[in-house]
Amino acid sequence: MGNHFAKTFSSSLGKKLIMSLTGLFMCLFLVVHLTGNLQLFKDDGGQAFNAYTYFMTHFWAVKIISYILYASIIVHAIYALVLTLNNKKARTVGYAVYAGEKSSPWASRNMGILGTVLLIFIVVHMSNFWAQYHWGGLPYTRYETELQNPENVTITELPVSTTEIMHSEYIDVQNGNQVLIAKDLYKVVYLSFKQWWYVTLYVIAMLAMSFHLVHGFKSGFQTLGLDHKRYLPIIKLLSVWLFGVLIPIGFALMPLYIFFFK
Ligand code: HEM
Repeated sequence: MGNHFAKTFSSSLGKKLIMSLTGLFMCLFLVVHLTGNLQLFKDDGGQAFNAYTYFMTHFWAVKIISYILYASIIVHAIYALVLTLNNKKARTVGYAVYAGEKSSPWASRNMGILGTVLLIFIVVHMSNFWAQYHWGGLPYTRYETELQNPENVTITELPVSTTEIMHSEYIDVQNGNQVLIAKDLYKVVYLSFKQWWYVTLYVIAMLAMSFHLVHGFKSGFQTLGLDHKRYLPIIKLLSVWLFGVLIPIGFALMPLYIFFFK
């Protein structure tokens, strides 16, 4: 049984199955990530964004999902490489190409290049934001909000983290006021997006992501055998409009908005 299981998942079909599951899981992550990051558009000194990242890094369920996400990125990239090398050796097993669809042949032929651009983007992105958050000496900011009158917020920048305040992130209610002390990740994002080359990298990566996802989302469903005629219109609609247009544009607007308007 165990052997059979191992064989299934190391076969070509098994690898494609894993690629579609990890890929679709990452698509789901992107929807959540984009929605959460919309807080960047608020004109509130980063309070909503920092409160959001505080929640995401202090809630155990999110942590578990994060580890599944990191594993997905790695497995998806390695299996893509293995499948590509196998395909070169024997042309008999091709990558799942969406049957009867001619609208994105360019994307389907260039999934490897597009994926490589995305992987480079993710490494740069995570080493800047994620690694900074976890290991960088980030400054802290304190937000005190009157619960009776939530418009009334006092923002105090605390000195760049020292060992005493390293572990003092918290959210609490004190004297009828909500107090949040959080690592100021908003500031890191703001300073990054004030650099033209960073904005350029993001916009190019989002263009690559659009093509990668238009094809990837559809073929994920095809590999899983879920491309039944009845669901095809909705799968097509989501792949083009949600993953090909809305999500990449939504992400690209964040650096552009901060660069030009903040
Ligand atoms: C342009 C808009 C984006 C902004 C402002 C943004 C911001 C951030 C920030 C601040 C973090 C660190 C959060 C933390 O450690 O809790 C993060 C993590 C991450 N981002 Fe983004 N991101 C953007 C786009 C993207 C895109 C397009 C992808 C994927 C292609 C992506 C993939 C990730 C991943 C995989 C992590 C690590 C997630 C985790 O620790 O759970 N991000 N992002």
